[in-house]
Amino acid sequence: MKTILAVVTGAAGDIGRAIASRLADSHDMVVMVDIDGAAVMKAAEDLGPADRFVPVVADVTDPASVSQMANAIAALGTVRTLVNNAGAARAVSLHDTDADIWRKDASLNLEAAFLTFRALENDLKQLGGALINIASVNGMAVFGHPAYSAAKAGLIHFTKLVAVEYGKFGIRANAVAPGTVRTQAWEARAAANPQVFEEAKRWYALQRIATAEDVANAVFFLASDQAKAITGVCLPVDCGLTAGQAELARTFSQSDHY
Ligand SMILES: NC(=O)c1ccc[n+]([C@@H]2O[C@H](COP(=O)([O-])OP(=O)(O)OC[C@H]3O[C@@H](n4cnc5c(N)ncnc54)[C@H](O)[C@@H]3O)[C@@H](O)[C@H]2O)c1
Repeated sequence: MKTILAVVTGAAGDIGRAIASRLADSHDMVVMVDIDGAAVMKAAEDLGPADRFVPVVADVTDPASVSQMANAIAALGTVRTLVNNAGAARAVSLHDTDADIWRKDASLNLEAAFLTFRALENDLKQLGGALINIASVNGMAVFGHPAYSAAKAGLIHFTKLVAVEYGKFGIRANAVAPGTVRTQAWEARAAANPQVFEEAKRWYALQRIATAEDVANAVFFLASDQAKAITGVCLPVDCGLTAGQAELARTFSQSDHY
């Protein structure tokens, strides 16, 4: 019998770990890929037994490393779900962005998803599997971090490209766009302003920010048969941020109902 795998990149991070943990409910084994070897080994150990959570060290921006990753994965089983979750933002404004930062953000947040998908697509074809790309609300509107955001917008489009070209193989491709989630990636901003999460809440319809588990639940759903007619969409997990802003609605309508 085939061992059915889920592969999660950036799996040493907070969101990646939550996704790996959730996908273990519907897969024989979760392959946790990360560039940070020590962190991903610890994350896998923390999540559970070595035959359920397997760490693989790879740089998803490097084609040679992705090819080694694919070989290591082939020895473990067949991939039914690929989650491209590795991502990071380097510069907060266009004024702070140079060509090197632009290329690095494009490489990690967009090109890497193409590389891992092409490396693992044969397994996904065999099983009629699911690709899930972790985008961001930054790929849908302007919230800062321009190079990262342009790459995430590209990632949402890449998701549709896969959905349309690979639908005939039964492969579904969807994106998840989280709003603010308190993770390691926010450490510097939280250090600069300990109130940053409190201040962010007012812009969210639900007046709270999402958790890594909220994101993982959406990924679990999109990977499951419950979503078998859903492909090519971007699902915001953003507590209503991209729906609109109550404060602005109050100003425009002059109604206290907002
Ligand atoms: N935290 C948020 O507010 C938020 C909001 C929207 C979208 N996202 C997205 O969610 C995803 C996870 O974010 P997070 O906040 O958990 O980040 P994180 O920084 O906690 O984790 C990211 C992980 O990716 C790994 N990584 C970085 N470069 C890599 C590479 N080249 N190859 C392999 N692994 C690499 C890191 O080592 C790290 O473990 C990212 O794609 C991010 O853009 C996060």
